[in-house]
Amino acid sequence: MKHDELYALLRRRGVLWPSAEIYGGVQGLYDYGPLGTALKRRLEEAWAAWFVGLSHDYYLIDPAEILPEPVVRASGHLENFTDPEVTCESCHAAFRADTILEKVRPEGVDGMTPAQIGEVVRANQVKCPSCGSVELSVPVPFNMMFGMDFGVTGKERVYLRPETAQGSYLSFARMWDVGRHALPLGIAVIGKAYRNEIAPRQVLFRMRAFTQAELQVFFDPAGFPLPFDQVRTEVLPVLRVARRQNGEETPELVSADELVRTGGLPEFYVYHLVHTFRFFRDVLGYPSERIRLFEKSDAERAFYNKLQFDVEVHLESLGGYKELGAVHYRGDYDLSRHSQGSGKDLSVHPTGRSPLLPHVLELTFGVDRNLWGLADLHLVKEGERTLWKLPAFLAPVAVGVFPLIARDHAPFALQLVDDLARAGISAQYDESSSIGKRYARMDEAGAPFCVTVDGETMAAGPTQGTVTLRARDSRSQERVAASEVAGRIYPSLRPPRPRRS
Ligand code: GAP
Repeated sequence: MKHDELYALLRRRGVLWPSAEIYGGVQGLYDYGPLGTALKRRLEEAWAAWFVGLSHDYYLIDPAEILPEPVVRASGHLENFTDPEVTCESCHAAFRADTILEKVRPEGVDGMTPAQIGEVVRANQVKCPSCGSVELSVPVPFNMMFGMDFGVTGKERVYLRPETAQGSYLSFARMWDVGRHALPLGIAVIGKAYRNEIAPRQVLFRMRAFTQAELQVFFDPAGFPLPFDQVRTEVLPVLRVARRQNGEETPELVSADELVRTGGLPEFYVYHLVHTFRFFRDVLGYPSERIRLFEKSDAERAFYNKLQFDVEVHLESLGGYKELGAVHYRGDYDLSRHSQGSGKDLSVHPTGRSPLLPHVLELTFGVDRNLWGLADLHLVKEGERTLWKLPAFLAPVAVGVFPLIARDHAPFALQLVDDLARAGISAQYDESSSIGKRYARMDEAGAPFCVTVDGETMAAGPTQGTVTLRARDSRSQERVAASEVAGRIYPSLRPPRPRRS
């Protein structure tokens, strides 16, 4: 679907809407309604089942969202977490350099100096999008963190976390102490991150408050034992720097084995790249031909990274490939910076080994961007029908429950809704309008199943009664005992887990 049609549908169904909408909205902030909230929670659960499920030594924690200034100074965000900002000398409007140069430099401005960006602006006579003037400033770095004064004296400077990752680094020493004193150790966080984006846009794509799910894996750089044979033959759609420099935009299919043997990538990195790719393809159900693993060059990588492949997915509503996640090899950057900043040596002494400073592999995932991705890729029109073909375990509502005739069948249907809820299955009761319209509403909400209670149910009595169980995608219907509905649909509502060893 095109962007505006998709966004209108998501607003109409109460999936999401602009924050403070009655005041005209706030740029870059969105609220989720009932369907959006349930979908987001299930997406977070599916992410945790998969990524925290990669090892017995990976854990989920919930650290604070506010960081004291010494933390963001040590992490490098105070100095480096900037985007180039161009201002109009005439009307004083401010813009992100890559946005203002979108038409003349679609590949973006990563890795360019402010002077080089300024030269492209000048050479192309780029105009201010607000007033049309060509009097645009040379770009200046704009720090994207939200800073504020903290405490009663107001003298303590703090920042809203710009990435959830920092909480894992700050908790590493404590997690080492409470854990098994062994590497690799994984610390995952799912929660809000905040960025004062210069140009928030495309709804969930560039927000000022958004949810990240990030796993930091701390490991010994001298050896990261893992079952590489399990992934060796997996074929990945990669777009490497060398091919990009030749103007290629389509990925090539390369096996995990080749990426290690001839591609120069470490096994631990490719192993996690495979599991990340499998999450997008097998768990979220994104078509593999829409995914590319886009390698960032030295100049383009985030300041903390040694290796970076972004997971980009081709989304019709956003007009091309968009970054929805990434695999970052951060080396010992974070723990060495926080060792220096805090004065606490963060090196560890694993049993039977000499002391070492662990390296970090980060698997990062944008929850909101992927919620949009799930809408872009799975909300489809088939003839007159609009179907949200979500994997069943992500569906906000698992089953719609309808009485054929409200007057006669409502009590039984309502009882069934309660029984399903007690079994942990989200069921939604609907008695209004025709059965066809009720099916259509549930199809659009992504409910994989619908159950109809009718005269036959009632005739057999409350314990033996059968109901019609209808599947969303095939529209096939069968009669099953009402008491068996939960057992029938429950297995499809469990998010998949990876094979561990
Ligand atoms: N800890 C690493 C990190 O934060 P990032 O590439 O800046 O890396 C990770 O962000 C993910 O967070 C991105 O792949 C994207 O999915 C999501 N993300 C980043 N900025 C965002 C924004 N302004 N709005 C929505 N999602 C965003």
